[in-house]
Amino acid sequence: MSGSGANHRMLVLGTGFVGRYASERLIEHDDEEDEVGWQVSGTCTSAAKKRELEKIGIDAFIFDATKSKMTDLHTLKHATHLLISIPTIAGIGDPLLFSYEDLRNTLSHGNLRWLCYLSSTSSALDTMVKRKSLSKGQKLRESRQYTARVHVADIYQAIKASFKVPSSGRIYNVVDDDPASRAEVFAFARNLLEHRFPDMAKEFGDVSLPDLASTEKKMHGEKRVSNARLKNELGVRLLYPTYRSGLQSIFDSWSVDNY
Ligand SMILES: NC(=O)c1ccc[n+]([C@@H]2O[C@H](COP(=O)([O-])OP(=O)(O)OC[C@H]3O[C@@H](n4cnc5c(N)ncnc54)[C@H](OP(=O)(O)O)[C@@H]3O)[C@@H](O)[C@H]2O)c1
Repeated sequence: MSGSGANHRMLVLGTGFVGRYASERLIEHDDEEDEVGWQVSGTCTSAAKKRELEKIGIDAFIFDATKSKMTDLHTLKHATHLLISIPTIAGIGDPLLFSYEDLRNTLSHGNLRWLCYLSSTSSALDTMVKRKSLSKGQKLRESRQYTARVHVADIYQAIKASFKVPSSGRIYNVVDDDPASRAEVFAFARNLLEHRFPDMAKEFGDVSLPDLASTEKKMHGEKRVSNARLKNELGVRLLYPTYRSGLQSIFDSWSVDNY
């Protein structure tokens, strides 16, 4: 159903890398067609993270899907939009399954118009580069071989485009046009790093490439997926259609002072 109109209230379950990127932009009111703006609330698992999220204008709540009660998350029943971006946990699977019934009951009596469940066969380019700030979930995902990836700005484009598409339970592969091995992508990133930030390159050492090569040998199958539906149904024109343009833009946005 359309997300246009007044009183847009986004709840992000798991306001990590992607959730925070999207939240910041919705709060900044960057959607020219949306004259109303967004109220954004989001969950995280620690008090320190909650304070960080509050600083950027998110109404933040501590929620651990393995322990907390969904029924205590009162903001859920007011949400018009729900972005689920809590990663699966090794050995557990999707922790939200613990709260599935409560989630369904609350949503069926609430105001929900749009729901997006983020899952992954891919890897976001920012995440791959900013290794120092990887969350536990991101490190786990990084240890697998991925052949498709996407810039977080294009994930956000897809989210925004889907606000306008009637709900159909569709699955969209949000990936760029240029699947490649992780070793190839890391080699390109390393090259950029060595030219632009040689000190940082030294700090990383060269542990990543041998690790990646051995990981890739162990992996079976490819993770190439088509982004045709993303383009044809959501009308997304990728800002970063290749890992090269994505990584280049990330490096261009850095300044030495940030690191
Ligand atoms: N970034 C990527 O490479 C990428 C690309 C494509 C798709 N995805 C998918 O998008 C989703 C989000 O990715 P991300 O990179 O934003 O992940 P992330 O940075 O690891 O953030 C995950 C969020 O989930 C929260 N969380 C973790 N365990 C939880 C639990 N047991 N209960 C409740 N909340 C929990 C974290 O809380 P804290 O904030 O307290 O840590 C954090 O807010 C994932 O499903 C991922 O597979 C990611």
